[in-house]
Amino acid sequence: MEIVHYPVLHEEVLANLPIKDGDSLMIDCTTGEGGHTSLFLSRYPDLKVIGLDRDRVIQQKAIERLRPFGSRFTPVLSSFDDYLESAAPDIADAILFDLGISMFHYVESERGFSFRRDEKLDMRLNPEEGISAADIVNGYQEEALADVIYRYGEERYSRRIARAIVARRQEKAIERSAELAEIIAGAVPREYRYGRIHPATRTFQALRIEVNGELSRIEPALRSAIRVLRKGGRIGVITFHSLEDRIVKWFFKDEAAKEDPEIRIITKKPIVPSEKEEEENAPSRSAKLRVIEKI
Ligand SMILES: C[S@@+](CC[C@H](N)C(=O)[O-])C[C@H]1O[C@@H](n2cnc3c(N)ncnc32)[C@H](O)[C@@H]1O
Repeated sequence: MEIVHYPVLHEEVLANLPIKDGDSLMIDCTTGEGGHTSLFLSRYPDLKVIGLDRDRVIQQKAIERLRPFGSRFTPVLSSFDDYLESAAPDIADAILFDLGISMFHYVESERGFSFRRDEKLDMRLNPEEGISAADIVNGYQEEALADVIYRYGEERYSRRIARAIVARRQEKAIERSAELAEIIAGAVPREYRYGRIHPATRTFQALRIEVNGELSRIEPALRSAIRVLRKGGRIGVITFHSLEDRIVKWFFKDEAAKEDPEIRIITKKPIVPSEKEEEENAPSRSAKLRVIEKI
């Protein structure tokens, strides 16, 4: 089994989520291939980790990788908002969210997450649930499609892209990621087509967020996480774009500003990767870590 994802900000995560000696519990809400979890289990010999993921395939990779830790790792196939909502209060010493998708999804999942590959356009983390990216591009009204691309991709050419998608699907359904990438590239101005980022980057991000309901799960999950945390325990959240980070930042700010607050903010400014990490792992560039403590 090949591990393809590099755990971002891992030193900073370890330093900011210190675990006390003795029987401690961490909930890794986004276990992925288990990079962060494996570092915590190695560092703290008495720590137990409950590791969540929505994706059955990547979870199998984590189970295999973390087998040497035996019963100290318990995998749970669940979306973090659902799991935390029904979890008991005051049980966890640390809760980690490393939001979004993993390198695995781009390079191994074959579900059309990458505009650089020609795969079936699906993008579901749990393919047994909800609708696919193909259902969205072939089924949404033009205006609704443009709204998704604008809201979740912050794509300024959302209307042009939606128009081009609708024109193409009137000829035939759009089924493949490469086909969608080509339609998008053809819909945007020339200078944007050859700009700093691939012209399909924002639209693909938007579709993935819409397919998996990514943003609407964050706030309910954080609210439950505070309840599930023990006093003195910490929550760390790594985000990868401004839409996610805004939700996390304002939720924590509002909670900490309440009259009788349950949390205090540890990271006044978010922690970002060092130059060295950015060089070694380009996808870490946009990562931001925010940490709070339950008081
Ligand atoms: C950035 S990766 C985590 C990488 C991991 N920290 C590591 O070091 O290997 C995010 C993971 O969270 C999962 N995920 C995304 N949304 C989720 C949700 N709502 N509930 C549970 N898991 C989710 C994805 O399937 C993916 O495996």
